[in-house]
Amino acid sequence: EHCFSKSSDGFLQCENVKVQDIMESVERRPFYLYSKPQITRNVEAYKDALQGLNSIIGYAIKANNNLKILEHLRSLGCGAVLVSGNELRLALRAGFDPTKCIFNGNGKLLDDLVLAAQEGVFVNIDSEFDLENIVAASRIAGKKVNVLLRINPDVDPQVHAYVATGNKNSKFGIRNEKLQWFLDAVKAHPDELKLVGAHCHLGSTITKVDIFRDAAVLMVNYIDEIRAQGFEVDYLNIGGGLGIDYYHSGAVLPKPMNLIDTVSISSFKQFCAVRELVLSRNLNLIIEPGRSLIANTCCLVNRVTGVKTNGTKNFVVIDGSMAELIRPSLYDAYQHIELVSPPPPNAEVSTFDVVGPVCESADFLGKERELPTPAKGAGLVVHDAGAYCMSMASTYNLKMRPPEYWVEEDGSVAKIRHSETFEDHMRFFDGL
Ligand code: LLP
Repeated sequence: EHCFSKSSDGFLQCENVKVQDIMESVERRPFYLYSKPQITRNVEAYKDALQGLNSIIGYAIKANNNLKILEHLRSLGCGAVLVSGNELRLALRAGFDPTKCIFNGNGKLLDDLVLAAQEGVFVNIDSEFDLENIVAASRIAGKKVNVLLRINPDVDPQVHAYVATGNKNSKFGIRNEKLQWFLDAVKAHPDELKLVGAHCHLGSTITKVDIFRDAAVLMVNYIDEIRAQGFEVDYLNIGGGLGIDYYHSGAVLPKPMNLIDTVSISSFKQFCAVRELVLSRNLNLIIEPGRSLIANTCCLVNRVTGVKTNGTKNFVVIDGSMAELIRPSLYDAYQHIELVSPPPPNAEVSTFDVVGPVCESADFLGKERELPTPAKGAGLVVHDAGAYCMSMASTYNLKMRPPEYWVEEDGSVAKIRHSETFEDHMRFFDGL
């Protein structure tokens, strides 16, 4: 069951509330609309998959950092994956248990590492200099840090180059050739570092579970090697990256359950499922989902400003843009687009580029979409906008960042973030 569906009379609804009605009751500007129950269902899918394992669902805060959403995820038992000191501060404000938090990143700053050490979050070692900084942070904080080694397993995630991270030439993690150096360096700092596990993250929008399993096999082998040297490591962190059905094509994509339990019956027959690997080594499993927890819970709701034609191209111009939602412009990403209300019976269907008002030809939300010609003011949504949309929004062209709402379990609509205003912007210059 999914939160966005069509009513019998053809209106888009979010948990049975018509989006058209919500548009009329909130401010007249693009806004993000979430389903709170869908967030719950997505977490439940991971919990079901992880039944019987000691595990941490570390939600990747970068995907969406709305405080209300974070509080909800925390209340459902999630931990958090952080990539900056501010994400760590926010996670603490949202009440996340620091011992369920993991601090990741290839350029973690000393001050942020000191905070992480003080709070007792797991820290992933990403490089030689990062290890030095973690040691320094431990001394400043006067606390030993639980560390995982981020190993770059060189498994191709088969995704857009901008969201691939686990290849051998990536800027993230360490290569296995250097494993011994890092183990020796950890051994040399018994007062500062406690090695508790190994981590990898292959990339994002992954749609084949074999890829995760291949990585898990390599990773448990590394863990065997690490244990053979006397380290008591208990955690395998296989990162995030599970993709979703952006195309709404009806294609059957892997779900959390498949990620943990699918055993390949084809070329990798000899490999067991992630579950078996984890149980066979008596490990705790950490996963770091972002997109697969939050992307499909939301759409960006826009209004049509007008329709125009130039050369061979038809354009629908909307009030939303690459400033609110940059994924199509940045990664050529496809996000499904539809009108919120049924078209008049004899509306003409044409092929449109859906574009915003921003002064860039890269400002598009969708290319070559078949749509009934919309009227001025019609509602148009961009689906699957819960992950890496609001969190990547900018104020380019001084389009202030949009407000966020969610539909709650009882069908009521609540604002969960104010829109940014011109006054907010002017505040940066107060008293200068
Ligand atoms: N763990 C680590 C170490 C990561 O780098 C990421 C995402 C995640 C977990 C969460 O991955 P997810 O489950 O969300 O795929 N802005 C891009 C995606 C960038 C992903 C960065 N790392 C996009 O809009 O597609």
